[in-house]
Amino acid sequence: MIAAAGDLAALDAVRVHALGKQGRITQLLKTLGAMSAEARQVEAPRIQALRESVAAAIAERKAVLEAAELDRRLATETLDLTLPVEPAPRGSVHPVSQVMDELAEIFADLSFAVAEGPEIEDDWHNFSALNIPESHPARAMHDTFYFDRTDGEGRKMLLRTHTSPVQIRAMMNQKPPLRIIAPGRVYRSDSDATHTPMFHQIEGLVIDRGIHMGHLKWTLETFLKAFFERDDVVLRLRPSYFPFTEPSAEVDVGFTLKDGRRVIGGCEGWMEVLGSGMVHPRVIAACGLDPDEWQGFAFGTGIDRLAMLKYGMDDLRAFFDGDLRWLRHYGFEALAVPTLSGGVGA
Ligand code: DAH
Repeated sequence: MIAAAGDLAALDAVRVHALGKQGRITQLLKTLGAMSAEARQVEAPRIQALRESVAAAIAERKAVLEAAELDRRLATETLDLTLPVEPAPRGSVHPVSQVMDELAEIFADLSFAVAEGPEIEDDWHNFSALNIPESHPARAMHDTFYFDRTDGEGRKMLLRTHTSPVQIRAMMNQKPPLRIIAPGRVYRSDSDATHTPMFHQIEGLVIDRGIHMGHLKWTLETFLKAFFERDDVVLRLRPSYFPFTEPSAEVDVGFTLKDGRRVIGGCEGWMEVLGSGMVHPRVIAACGLDPDEWQGFAFGTGIDRLAMLKYGMDDLRAFFDGDLRWLRHYGFEALAVPTLSGGVGA
Protein backbone atom coordinates (compact mmCIF):
# COMPACT_ATOMS: atom_id res chain seq x y z
CA MET A 1 0.00 0.00 0.00
CA ILE A 2 2.81 2.39 0.89
CA ALA A 3 4.71 1.80 -2.31
CA ALA A 4 1.51 2.06 -4.30
CA ALA A 5 0.64 5.55 -2.96
CA GLY A 6 0.97 7.73 -6.05
CA ASP A 7 0.96 11.11 -4.39
CA LEU A 8 1.34 12.78 -1.01
CA ALA A 9 -2.41 12.81 -0.33
CA ALA A 10 -2.70 9.05 -0.96
CA LEU A 11 0.32 8.43 1.25
CA ASP A 12 -1.21 10.47 4.04
CA ALA A 13 -4.40 8.38 3.80
CA VAL A 14 -2.24 5.27 4.24
CA ARG A 15 -0.55 6.83 7.27
CA VAL A 16 -3.91 7.63 8.91
CA HIS A 17 -5.16 4.12 8.10
CA ALA A 18 -2.14 2.51 9.85
CA LEU A 19 -0.89 4.97 12.47
CA GLY A 20 -3.76 7.46 13.00
CA LYS A 21 -5.89 7.53 16.15
CA GLN A 22 -8.18 4.82 14.78
CA GLY A 23 -5.41 3.22 12.69
CA ARG A 24 -4.77 -0.52 12.49
CA ILE A 25 -1.45 -0.47 14.33
CA THR A 26 -2.79 1.95 16.95
CA GLN A 27 -5.63 -0.53 17.53
CA LEU A 28 -3.09 -3.35 17.89
CA LEU A 29 -1.22 -1.33 20.54
CA LYS A 30 -4.47 -0.94 22.47
CA THR A 31 -4.89 -4.74 22.65
CA LEU A 32 -1.74 -4.91 24.81
CA GLY A 33 -3.69 -3.67 27.85
CA ALA A 34 -5.97 -6.72 27.87
CA MET A 35 -3.14 -9.27 27.55
CA SER A 36 -1.49 -11.33 30.24
CA ALA A 37 1.95 -10.13 31.29
CA GLU A 38 3.68 -13.02 29.47
CA ALA A 39 1.76 -12.47 26.24
CA ARG A 40 2.46 -8.72 26.42
CA GLN A 41 6.20 -9.36 26.75
CA VAL A 42 6.13 -11.23 23.48
CA GLU A 43 3.63 -9.04 21.61
CA ALA A 44 4.71 -5.51 22.66
CA PRO A 45 8.13 -5.57 20.95
CA ARG A 46 6.57 -7.10 17.82
CA ILE A 47 3.90 -4.42 17.54
CA GLN A 48 6.44 -1.62 18.27
CA ALA A 49 8.77 -2.99 15.62
CA LEU A 50 5.90 -3.15 13.16
CA ARG A 51 4.95 0.43 13.95
CA GLU A 52 8.52 1.65 13.46
CA SER A 53 9.03 -0.15 10.19
CA VAL A 54 5.71 1.15 8.81
CA ALA A 55 6.55 4.72 9.93
CA ALA A 56 10.02 4.45 8.33
CA ALA A 57 8.55 3.13 5.07
CA ILE A 58 6.04 6.00 4.99
CA ALA A 59 8.82 8.58 5.60
CA GLU A 60 10.92 7.05 2.84
CA ARG A 61 8.04 7.09 0.37
CA LYS A 62 7.24 10.66 1.40
CA ALA A 63 10.75 11.83 0.55
CA VAL A 64 10.51 10.18 -2.87
CA LEU A 65 7.12 11.73 -3.58
CA GLU A 66 8.27 15.19 -2.43
CA ALA A 67 11.33 15.07 -4.67
CA ALA A 68 9.14 14.03 -7.59
CA GLU A 69 6.73 16.88 -6.82
CA LEU A 70 9.59 19.40 -6.77
CA ASP A 71 10.92 18.08 -10.09
CA ARG A 72 7.47 18.43 -11.59
CA ARG A 73 7.12 22.03 -10.41
CA LEU A 74 10.60 22.97 -11.62
CA ALA A 75 9.79 21.50 -15.03
CA THR A 76 6.40 23.16 -15.42
CA GLU A 77 6.40 26.46 -13.50
CA THR A 78 7.96 29.54 -15.09
CA LEU A 79 8.84 32.86 -13.46
CA ASP A 80 8.46 36.05 -15.51
CA LEU A 81 11.59 37.98 -14.56
CA THR A 82 10.40 41.05 -16.45
CA LEU A 83 7.56 41.59 -13.98
CA PRO A 84 8.22 44.33 -11.39
CA VAL A 85 9.09 42.91 -7.98
CA GLU A 86 6.90 45.46 -6.27
CA PRO A 87 4.13 47.71 -7.48
CA ALA A 88 5.29 51.10 -8.82
CA PRO A 89 6.48 53.41 -5.99
CA ARG A 90 3.82 55.90 -4.91
CA GLY A 91 6.09 58.62 -3.60
CA SER A 92 7.60 61.29 -5.81
CA VAL A 93 10.81 63.31 -5.80
CA HIS A 94 10.34 66.89 -4.57
CA PRO A 95 11.14 69.54 -7.22
CA VAL A 96 13.89 70.96 -4.98
CA SER A 97 15.62 67.57 -4.78
CA GLN A 98 15.12 67.07 -8.50
CA VAL A 99 16.67 70.46 -9.35
CA MET A 100 19.58 69.80 -6.94
CA ASP A 101 20.21 66.52 -8.79
CA GLU A 102 19.99 68.29 -12.14
CA LEU A 103 22.50 70.92 -10.98
CA ALA A 104 24.92 68.31 -9.62
CA GLU A 105 24.70 66.40 -12.92
CA ILE A 106 25.32 69.50 -15.05
CA PHE A 107 28.23 70.74 -12.96
CA ALA A 108 29.77 67.28 -12.58
CA ASP A 109 30.09 67.30 -16.36
CA LEU A 110 32.10 70.55 -16.01
CA SER A 111 34.20 68.78 -13.33
CA PHE A 112 32.79 70.63 -10.33
CA ALA A 113 32.64 68.68 -7.07
CA VAL A 114 29.82 69.07 -4.54
CA ALA A 115 30.94 70.76 -1.29
CA GLU A 116 29.05 71.17 1.97
CA GLY A 117 29.11 73.38 5.01
CA PRO A 118 27.15 73.61 8.26
CA GLU A 119 23.73 75.27 8.41
CA ILE A 120 24.61 76.57 11.87
CA GLU A 121 27.45 78.92 11.03
CA ASP A 122 29.46 81.61 12.76
CA ASP A 123 29.46 85.24 11.70
CA TRP A 124 33.08 85.10 10.54
CA HIS A 125 32.38 82.49 7.82
CA ASN A 126 28.95 83.90 6.97
CA PHE A 127 29.99 87.58 6.86
CA SER A 128 33.47 88.78 7.87
CA ALA A 129 35.52 86.44 5.68
CA LEU A 130 33.24 87.37 2.78
CA ASN A 131 34.27 91.01 3.15
CA ILE A 132 31.09 91.98 5.01
CA PRO A 133 32.46 93.69 8.15
CA GLU A 134 30.40 94.24 11.30
CA SER A 135 29.21 97.72 10.31
CA HIS A 136 28.32 96.71 6.76
CA PRO A 137 24.66 97.34 5.77
CA ALA A 138 24.55 93.94 4.03
CA ARG A 139 24.47 92.30 7.47
CA ALA A 140 21.22 94.05 8.27
CA MET A 141 19.85 93.23 4.80
CA HIS A 142 20.15 89.50 5.42
CA ASP A 143 17.55 89.36 8.25
CA THR A 144 19.73 86.93 10.12
CA PHE A 145 18.54 84.41 12.72
CA TYR A 146 21.13 84.66 15.53
CA PHE A 147 21.68 82.26 18.43
CA ASP A 148 22.21 83.77 21.84
CA ARG A 149 25.61 82.15 22.24
CA THR A 150 29.06 82.41 20.68
CA ASP A 151 31.53 79.71 19.67
CA GLY A 152 34.85 79.02 21.45
CA GLU A 153 36.51 81.90 19.59
CA GLY A 154 33.85 84.45 20.55
CA ARG A 155 32.16 84.35 17.14
CA LYS A 156 28.41 84.87 17.08
CA MET A 157 26.50 81.77 15.95
CA LEU A 158 23.72 82.05 13.39
CA LEU A 159 21.74 80.14 10.78
CA ARG A 160 23.62 80.72 7.54
CA THR A 161 21.91 83.34 5.41
CA HIS A 162 23.48 82.14 2.16
CA THR A 163 25.64 79.31 0.81
CA SER A 164 28.59 81.68 0.28
CA PRO A 165 30.32 80.62 3.55
CA VAL A 166 30.94 77.25 1.86
CA GLN A 167 33.32 79.16 -0.48
CA ILE A 168 35.36 80.11 2.56
CA ARG A 169 35.37 76.58 3.96
CA ALA A 170 36.37 75.12 0.59
CA MET A 171 39.26 77.58 0.12
CA MET A 172 40.50 76.93 3.65
CA ASN A 173 40.15 73.14 3.61
CA GLN A 174 41.24 72.27 0.09
CA LYS A 175 44.24 73.14 -2.00
CA PRO A 176 43.56 75.24 -5.11
CA PRO A 177 42.76 74.88 -7.99
CA LEU A 178 39.15 74.44 -6.92
CA ARG A 179 35.88 73.85 -8.70
CA ILE A 180 32.94 73.37 -6.41
CA ILE A 181 29.21 73.81 -6.17
CA ALA A 182 27.51 73.98 -2.78
CA PRO A 183 23.75 73.40 -2.77
CA GLY A 184 21.90 73.61 0.53
CA ARG A 185 19.45 75.18 2.93
CA VAL A 186 19.72 78.81 4.00
CA TYR A 187 17.65 80.87 6.46
CA ARG A 188 16.34 84.42 6.66
CA SER A 189 13.64 85.97 8.77
CA ASP A 190 11.27 86.73 5.91
CA SER A 191 7.93 85.29 4.76
CA ASP A 192 5.55 86.10 1.88
CA ALA A 193 4.61 84.61 -1.54
CA THR A 194 8.20 84.80 -2.77
CA HIS A 195 10.09 84.42 0.55
CA THR A 196 10.14 81.61 3.10
CA PRO A 197 12.25 81.58 6.29
CA MET A 198 14.11 78.54 4.95
CA PHE A 199 14.95 78.22 1.28
CA HIS A 200 17.63 76.69 -0.91
CA GLN A 201 20.61 78.18 -2.66
CA ILE A 202 23.45 76.93 -4.76
CA GLU A 203 26.88 78.47 -4.71
CA GLY A 204 29.56 77.99 -7.35
CA LEU A 205 33.26 78.70 -6.93
CA VAL A 206 36.27 78.37 -9.21
CA ILE A 207 39.76 79.25 -7.97
CA ASP A 208 42.71 78.86 -10.31
CA ARG A 209 45.46 80.86 -11.98
CA GLY A 210 44.54 83.33 -14.72
CA ILE A 211 40.76 83.14 -14.24
CA HIS A 212 38.75 85.99 -15.79
CA MET A 213 35.15 87.10 -16.47
CA GLY A 214 35.14 85.19 -19.78
CA HIS A 215 35.38 81.91 -17.85
CA LEU A 216 32.50 83.03 -15.66
CA LYS A 217 30.27 83.95 -18.58
CA TRP A 218 30.97 80.74 -20.51
CA THR A 219 30.33 78.59 -17.44
CA LEU A 220 27.03 80.29 -16.63
CA GLU A 221 25.88 80.15 -20.26
CA THR A 222 26.73 76.44 -20.52
CA PHE A 223 24.99 75.76 -17.21
CA LEU A 224 21.81 77.71 -18.00
CA LYS A 225 21.46 76.16 -21.48
CA ALA A 226 21.77 72.68 -19.99
CA PHE A 227 19.44 73.51 -17.10
CA PHE A 228 16.64 75.03 -19.19
CA GLU A 229 17.31 72.42 -21.90
CA ARG A 230 17.34 75.01 -24.69
CA ASP A 231 20.11 76.26 -26.97
CA ASP A 232 18.49 79.66 -27.46
CA VAL A 233 19.02 80.82 -23.85
CA VAL A 234 20.37 84.39 -23.95
CA LEU A 235 22.28 85.87 -21.02
CA ARG A 236 22.66 89.47 -19.98
CA LEU A 237 25.30 90.48 -17.44
CA ARG A 238 24.50 93.69 -15.56
CA PRO A 239 27.09 95.45 -13.39
CA SER A 240 26.11 95.04 -9.75
CA TYR A 241 27.53 95.01 -6.25
CA PHE A 242 28.30 92.17 -3.85
CA PRO A 243 30.85 92.68 -1.06
CA PHE A 244 32.59 89.37 -1.87
CA THR A 245 33.08 89.93 -5.61
CA GLU A 246 34.77 92.66 -7.65
CA PRO A 247 33.63 93.26 -10.31
CA SER A 248 30.15 91.87 -9.68
CA ALA A 249 27.45 91.07 -12.17
CA GLU A 250 23.82 90.15 -11.96
CA VAL A 251 22.80 87.68 -14.62
CA ASP A 252 19.46 87.84 -16.44
CA VAL A 253 18.05 85.29 -18.87
CA GLY A 254 15.90 86.37 -21.78
CA PHE A 255 12.32 85.18 -22.20
CA THR A 256 9.71 85.24 -24.96
CA LEU A 257 5.97 85.64 -24.42
CA LYS A 258 3.91 82.70 -25.68
CA ASP A 259 0.13 82.97 -25.09
CA GLY A 260 0.82 85.45 -22.32
CA ARG A 261 3.29 83.10 -20.58
CA ARG A 262 7.00 83.67 -20.18
CA VAL A 263 9.08 81.04 -21.95
CA ILE A 264 12.86 80.98 -21.43
CA GLY A 265 14.72 81.68 -24.68
CA GLY A 266 15.00 84.70 -26.94
CA CYS A 267 15.10 88.21 -25.49
CA GLU A 268 11.70 89.92 -25.45
CA GLY A 269 12.18 90.49 -21.74
CA TRP A 270 14.67 89.70 -18.98
CA MET A 271 14.50 87.84 -15.68
CA GLU A 272 17.19 87.95 -13.04
CA VAL A 273 18.51 84.49 -12.18
CA LEU A 274 21.97 84.76 -10.60
CA GLY A 275 24.44 86.88 -8.69
CA SER A 276 28.08 86.49 -9.65
CA GLY A 277 31.48 88.08 -9.98
CA MET A 278 35.22 87.74 -9.63
CA VAL A 279 36.10 86.65 -6.09
CA HIS A 280 37.28 89.73 -4.16
CA PRO A 281 41.04 89.64 -3.45
CA ARG A 282 40.24 90.29 0.22
CA VAL A 283 38.15 87.11 0.37
CA ILE A 284 40.98 85.09 -1.19
CA ALA A 285 43.43 86.60 1.31
CA ALA A 286 41.08 85.91 4.27
CA CYS A 287 41.34 82.22 3.37
CA GLY A 288 45.14 82.32 3.50
CA LEU A 289 45.73 82.33 -0.27
CA ASP A 290 47.79 84.86 -2.22
CA PRO A 291 45.41 86.89 -4.42
CA ASP A 292 48.29 87.72 -6.79
CA GLU A 293 48.66 84.03 -7.54
CA TRP A 294 45.04 82.83 -7.30
CA GLN A 295 41.94 84.33 -8.87
CA GLY A 296 38.45 83.01 -9.23
CA PHE A 297 34.84 83.58 -9.95
CA ALA A 298 31.77 82.81 -7.88
CA PHE A 299 28.05 82.74 -8.38
CA GLY A 300 24.99 82.10 -6.29
CA THR A 301 21.29 81.67 -6.83
CA GLY A 302 18.09 80.29 -5.33
CA ILE A 303 17.33 76.68 -6.18
CA ASP A 304 13.62 77.12 -5.44
CA ARG A 305 13.53 80.06 -7.81
CA LEU A 306 15.25 78.04 -10.54
CA ALA A 307 12.68 75.27 -10.03
CA MET A 308 9.81 77.77 -10.24
CA LEU A 309 11.16 79.24 -13.48
CA LYS A 310 11.77 75.88 -15.11
CA TYR A 311 8.65 74.03 -14.00
CA GLY A 312 6.18 76.91 -13.83
CA MET A 313 5.18 77.08 -10.16
CA ASP A 314 4.14 80.48 -8.90
CA ASP A 315 3.96 80.28 -5.09
CA LEU A 316 7.14 79.48 -3.20
CA ARG A 317 5.24 78.59 0.00
CA ALA A 318 3.72 75.51 -1.69
CA PHE A 319 7.23 74.03 -1.80
CA PHE A 320 7.15 73.60 1.96
CA ASP A 321 3.46 72.82 2.64
CA GLY A 322 3.86 69.07 2.09
CA ASP A 323 0.51 68.96 0.22
CA LEU A 324 0.32 65.54 -1.45
CA ARG A 325 -1.77 66.85 -4.37
CA TRP A 326 0.92 69.44 -5.15
CA LEU A 327 3.66 66.81 -4.85
CA ARG A 328 1.80 64.41 -7.16
CA HIS A 329 1.38 67.18 -9.71
CA TYR A 330 4.86 68.73 -9.57
CA GLY A 331 6.89 65.83 -8.17
CA PHE A 332 9.19 63.64 -10.25
CA GLU A 333 9.31 59.91 -10.73
CA ALA A 334 11.61 58.35 -8.17
CA LEU A 335 13.47 56.23 -10.70
CA ALA A 336 13.83 58.85 -13.46
CA VAL A 337 17.31 60.15 -12.56
CA PRO A 338 18.47 63.32 -14.37
CA THR A 339 21.20 62.66 -16.92
CA LEU A 340 22.74 64.85 -19.59
CA SER A 341 22.20 62.19 -22.22
CA GLY A 342 18.58 61.46 -21.28
CA GLY A 343 17.63 65.06 -20.46
CA VAL A 344 18.15 66.51 -17.00
CA GLY A 345 14.49 67.34 -16.50
CA ALA A 346 13.09 64.23 -18.20
N1 DAH B 1 25.24 85.17 -1.51
C1 DAH B 1 24.41 85.98 -2.38
C2 DAH B 1 23.01 86.08 -1.80
O1 DAH B 1 22.66 85.31 -0.97
C3 DAH B 1 24.34 85.36 -3.75
C4 DAH B 1 25.64 85.49 -4.47
C5 DAH B 1 25.89 86.61 -5.25
C6 DAH B 1 26.61 84.54 -4.36
C7 DAH B 1 27.08 86.74 -5.94
C8 DAH B 1 27.82 84.66 -5.04
C9 DAH B 1 28.03 85.78 -5.83
O2 DAH B 1 28.79 83.76 -4.98
O3 DAH B 1 29.20 85.90 -6.49
O4 DAH B 1 22.25 86.91 -2.21
